[in-house]
Amino acid sequence: MKVIWKSKIVEEEQVKVDFHDRGYQFGDGIYEVIRVHNGKLFTMKEHLDRLFNGARKIEMELPFTRVAVEELLIELVSVNRLDTGYVYFQVSRGDGIARNHFFPTLAESTPVLSGFTVVMGRQIEKITSGVGAVIIPDMRWLRCDVKSISLLGNVLAKNEAKKANVQEVIQHRDGILTEGSTSNIIVVKDGSLWSHPDDNYILAGITKIVALTEARKLGIPINECTFDIAILNTADEVFLLSTTAEIMPIIEIDGKKIGAGIPGPITKKLQKAYIAAIENECGKIL
Ligand SMILES: Cc1ncc(COP(=O)(O)O)c(C=O)c1O
Repeated sequence: MKVIWKSKIVEEEQVKVDFHDRGYQFGDGIYEVIRVHNGKLFTMKEHLDRLFNGARKIEMELPFTRVAVEELLIELVSVNRLDTGYVYFQVSRGDGIARNHFFPTLAESTPVLSGFTVVMGRQIEKITSGVGAVIIPDMRWLRCDVKSISLLGNVLAKNEAKKANVQEVIQHRDGILTEGSTSNIIVVKDGSLWSHPDDNYILAGITKIVALTEARKLGIPINECTFDIAILNTADEVFLLSTTAEIMPIIEIDGKKIGAGIPGPITKKLQKAYIAAIENECGKIL
């Protein structure tokens, strides 16, 4: 299997992670996950926008161009003959000098770009039938808008879902619904969508951006504002959104059914529109 390592495509066995890599020691870096359908990268532009914006937010100067990253990703998918799956890639702030909290200069240490591909089919069963979730307090940091490789908060949250034997957690900060551990959450009530605004409390998910764009085209009203977690007690539909999960209905929260306990009509409409958006970029997937 080939991988991206230090901006080149090499055999995985050739990779040697530096002991002093800041990604390894501080979790100092950012990452992206892009879905691949029919060997094509879906919404690559939006993911690269987020990566380059993220680098600016954490004051990391990137020593490569956007076009260079695009070319590497396309080549990696091609050499690994990936049809359906995803590409993971990250940039750590670099290696070469011993652990020091101060940012290194580019002359001292170069950001390390790495990445790999994973074969993964669409999660059709869960997308069709829906999944469960549990509510937990959001204990992460205050820069959830940065797609940081420091994921301990998300890792701890995700494992609460595992303990409860459900797919995902729905997090709240002082009663305000934020997002899942690896996904955004949208609530449907009385025909409108409720979605947390893109601020520092959530990651501006690319799947959410596509879904909201499709919802606007369909004339579905959207409330992009903060709202109380109590909305879940009377929600008609709830769904989670992420690159690998797509639009996945949440049919049960804390053991209680949402609506009729089956995927609702607005969720299904948006799922259909989302598939059309994928097919528009990547070709037929069903
Ligand atoms: C915390 C968090 N929120 C939201 C998302 C969804 O983002 P995207 O749709 O870009 O995959 C993710 C995806 O990994 C995530 O980790």
